[in-house]
Amino acid sequence: MDIILCPTAEEASLRAAALITNAVRARPATVLGLATGSTPLRLYQALIQACRDGLDFSRVRTFNLDEYYGVAPDHPQSYRRFMNEHLFDHLNLNPANTRVPDGLARDVAAHCAAYEAEMRAAGGVDIQVLGIGSDGHIGFNEPGSSLASRTRLVALTPQTVSDNARFFATVDEVPRHAISMGIGTILEAKRCVMLCFGANKAKAVRAALEGGISQFTPASALQMHPDTTVFLDEAAAADLQLKEYYRWSAANQPA
Ligand code: GLP
Repeated sequence: MDIILCPTAEEASLRAAALITNAVRARPATVLGLATGSTPLRLYQALIQACRDGLDFSRVRTFNLDEYYGVAPDHPQSYRRFMNEHLFDHLNLNPANTRVPDGLARDVAAHCAAYEAEMRAAGGVDIQVLGIGSDGHIGFNEPGSSLASRTRLVALTPQTVSDNARFFATVDEVPRHAISMGIGTILEAKRCVMLCFGANKAKAVRAALEGGISQFTPASALQMHPDTTVFLDEAAAADLQLKEYYRWSAANQPA
């Protein structure tokens, strides 16, 4: 794991964006794995700016991590709608090349298998963007998820339901289930880029980066991934034991 501790979330987001824009420049048909949540928003704005400045996304393909189950793609809180509004509609992507699990899939198992088959047919994910839940989840892989799990229907924890209630009128409207890429699926991405910002992530970040690898902290599985970069701001890094080293390393990256 390459752990990059930045003074601000702004700087961390721009560094993560640079990593992605460099990849798209080098390989226009890059396959991106994408995440929702407030964390990657600044990164997405930077990608939109890069597109306005001439970076071509027309051959990029995208696969999103997850979608609320039972939620239609045009529902105001669906992850499909989130992605359209915050990223896809502002890039010169081919809309047919953007994939988000279908929250209304009738045969969920078949849909999940087809989603994975499509990822494989695309050559696999080149760069997977990840946030982290306050309980250490990635995608919607809640604590207790098998580290070998594949794309499937998952039950959200009360903690996640309450964390995500801010996007809904009432907590009762938050879906209780989601379709999520599994941890095993995520680990197959060639490169993972996880962003963790804010004090409410500090505990999960410590468990994920410096704790043991455990299904109780799904993000800790990234310790086994050969090419993962974690971008942190100071607040999210507050509880890390090796904080000084990560800070030093971020400031002394090779050119
Ligand atoms: C949801 C998403 C995750 C995301 C997490 C954190 O649970 N499924 O992919 O990382 O929220 O969200 P935020 O970035 O808003 O803190």
